[in-house]
Amino acid sequence: MLSKTILLAAGSAALALSAQAADPAAASVAEDIPAARVHPERWPEVAFPTVLTEAGEARVQAILARMTLEQKVGQIIQADIASVTPEDVRRYRLGSVLNGGNSGPGGDDLAPAQDWLALADAFYEASMDVGPGEPAIPIVWGTDAVHGHSNIVGATIFPHNVGLGAARDPELIERIGKVTAVEIRVTGQEWTFAPTVAVPQDYRWGRAYEGYSSDPALVAAYVGSMIRGLQGPPSTTPILAGPHVAASTKHYLADGATTDGKDQGDAAISELELRLVHGAPYIPAIESGVATIMTSFSSWNGVKLSAHRGLVTDVLKGRMNYGGLVITDWNAHGQVAGCSNASCPRAVDAGIDMFMAPDSWRMLYDSTLAQVRDGTIAMERLDDAVARVLRLKERLGLFDMGKPSQRALSGEYELLGAPDHRAVAREAVRKSMVLLKNTGVLPLQPGGRILVAGDAAHDIARQSGGWTLSWQGTGLDNSLFPGATSLWEGIEQAATASGGSAELSPEGSFTERPDAAIVVFGETPYAEFQGDIASLQLRPELRRPIATMQRLKQQGIPVVAVMITGRPLYVNEALNAADAFVAAWLPGSEGGGVADMLFAAADGAPAHEFQGLLPTAWPATAQHGGETLFPFGYGLRYAHGP
Ligand code: BGC
Ligand code: BGC
Repeated sequence: MLSKTILLAAGSAALALSAQAADPAAASVAEDIPAARVHPERWPEVAFPTVLTEAGEARVQAILARMTLEQKVGQIIQADIASVTPEDVRRYRLGSVLNGGNSGPGGDDLAPAQDWLALADAFYEASMDVGPGEPAIPIVWGTDAVHGHSNIVGATIFPHNVGLGAARDPELIERIGKVTAVEIRVTGQEWTFAPTVAVPQDYRWGRAYEGYSSDPALVAAYVGSMIRGLQGPPSTTPILAGPHVAASTKHYLADGATTDGKDQGDAAISELELRLVHGAPYIPAIESGVATIMTSFSSWNGVKLSAHRGLVTDVLKGRMNYGGLVITDWNAHGQVAGCSNASCPRAVDAGIDMFMAPDSWRMLYDSTLAQVRDGTIAMERLDDAVARVLRLKERLGLFDMGKPSQRALSGEYELLGAPDHRAVAREAVRKSMVLLKNTGVLPLQPGGRILVAGDAAHDIARQSGGWTLSWQGTGLDNSLFPGATSLWEGIEQAATASGGSAELSPEGSFTERPDAAIVVFGETPYAEFQGDIASLQLRPELRRPIATMQRLKQQGIPVVAVMITGRPLYVNEALNAADAFVAAWLPGSEGGGVADMLFAAADGAPAHEFQGLLPTAWPATAQHGGETLFPFGYGLRYAHGP
C-alpha cells in the first residue's frame, strides 16, 4: 500500500524535523521555523475550474471598485449568530454569519425550522439595507451540515464519515451530498462546512470519526463525489439556481496528523508525508471547484495553519491554483503566535480571506480596519480577499436570488427528513455496517424471539454522535428526533415483520428465553477535543453491556454484538463473548438500516449482503500503534459462510 510505505519512510524524517523545530511561540513568521518551510514546486499543479462567467467576474470587479474600506473589512469577517444581530450586520456590513454547534435562532439551537429561515431573511435584509450609491452585498450563512443538515430538528441524519468510509461507495456519497444540500436550502442557509477531508492517523483524536478513512486514497476517492452532490458540477452557476449549496473542505492541512491525536495540536511530520497523505484529498477538491477551504486549528511543525503563508498562499493558492475562498476556523487566528482573538493581521498576510470570528468579530473589525489604514495589512491583499468573498457570492447567485425565503426549496419543510431522503440514509447505514465475526447466528431467522439489550439500543442521539443538534451531541432525547428510528425500533419492526417478536431490556433480563440476543453498546457522543482519549479503550462505565454479553453466553443464548462507535477500540472481551460482531459506527437517524443487515429474508437467506470494509485497522491492544486485530479493508460477507 502506497501510503504505508510513505508513512514508514517518513517516520524517521519527521523525528529529525521535530527535533529541529524551534519554540513556536518565539517565531513571528512561518519562515523562521525551518521545519515548517514548504517547497511549493514539489506540490502538484492542479487546475481550478472556471466557476464564474466573464460577466460575473466583471460584476465582482465593479462592486469592489465602489466599496469603502469599512465595507471591505466587514466582508472578510464572519460572526456567530449567538453574538451578532441583523442590526450589527447592517451597521458593520459583515460578510457572513455562521451558527456554531450550540447556536440557533433566538439562542435556541433546537429552534423550529421556520425560525432558521426567518432569521436568514432578517440577516439578508440587513445586509441589503444600504445608503445611496453604496453597493448592496448580500450576506452568506455557513453551517456545520456535516452528516446531513444536522443542526435542525427533524432533518435526515446520515452516518458520520467513518461509516461512509466503510461503505466504499462514491456514488452513494454524491447522493448524500445532494440530499444534504436540499435540506439546507429548506431553512435558508447557503454554505456548509463540509466535507471534512481529514486523513486521521491516530484514532485517539476526538474528531477521527469526521474523517472517511486513514487511507488517503479512499478519502480522495470520495471528495469529488461529495462536492458534486453539495455544489453540483463546477460549471453549475449560479449554485443556488439548482438544489445546491457551497461546500468547504476542511481542515487544511493535516488536522488528522497531530501528535498523539491531540485536537488542534501539532503535526510533526515531513513535507513529503504532509503532501502525499494529508494533501491528497485537496487535489480532487480543487479540481471539483470546492467553493471554500477552511484552515485547521492545528499547526505543522510548530506553525499554525491559520497563518502559514507557505501552505496557504504559496502552495494552495499559488502552486495548486486554488481560486476559491479560504476561511479560518472558530477563533483559530487567536492561537497564532503574536495574535489574539481580537487581532491577527498575520492571518490576512498569510492568505486568509475570511475570519471566523464568532464572538470576537467587533474587536477584530476595529483592529483590522486600523491595520489596513496604517499599512500593516496591504491594500492589495485585502482587495484580493474581498474579491474572493464577492466571487463566492456571485457564484452562489446571491446578488440575484432575493431573500432566502423567496428561493427555490425554502420553506418546503416536508423535505426535512423526507421519506426518499431517509431511504438514502438507510441505504448508507446498511452499506457502512462491517461484520467482524459471525459463527453462524447471523442472519437471524424469521419467527424468532429476539432479546435486545445494551445501553445504546434505544438512544437516537447516541447512535448519531457529535455535531447532532448540539455541538457535542449531548443533552438530547429521542423526542428531539421526530421521524427517526432507534436501533431497537428497527429491530422490533424487523422481528415482528418476520413473524417473530422482540423484547427490549437494557440490562439483558428476560421473561421468556430468547432465541438470540442483540446487545447494542459502545461510545457516547462527543465532538472535537472533548473526544480525545489517551488509549483506545471504551470507558469503564460503558463496558457493562460486555458483562451482559458474557452472562447471556453462559446461559447458552446466541449473542450478536452491535457496536456504536466513532472509532475502532480495543474490545476483545466483547469480540470473544459475542457469536457475531457488527461495527455500526455512528449510523444516524435511520436505525432500521442496522436491522436490515441482521435479519434474514422470508426464505432464511440473508436479506442484504454486508458490503462494509474497515476504513482503518482495528486494534488488538489499547495502545495506539500496537498490534492490529483486523487490518484496513477487513470485513466478512455472508457469502463467505460462518
Ligand atoms: C470546528 C469546525 C467548525 C466550526 C464551526 C470549529 O470549532 O473546528 O470544524 O466548522 O467550529 O462550528
Ligand atoms: C461552538 C462550536 C465550535 C466550538 C469551538 C462551540 O461553542 O458551538 O461550533 O466549534 O465552540 O471550540
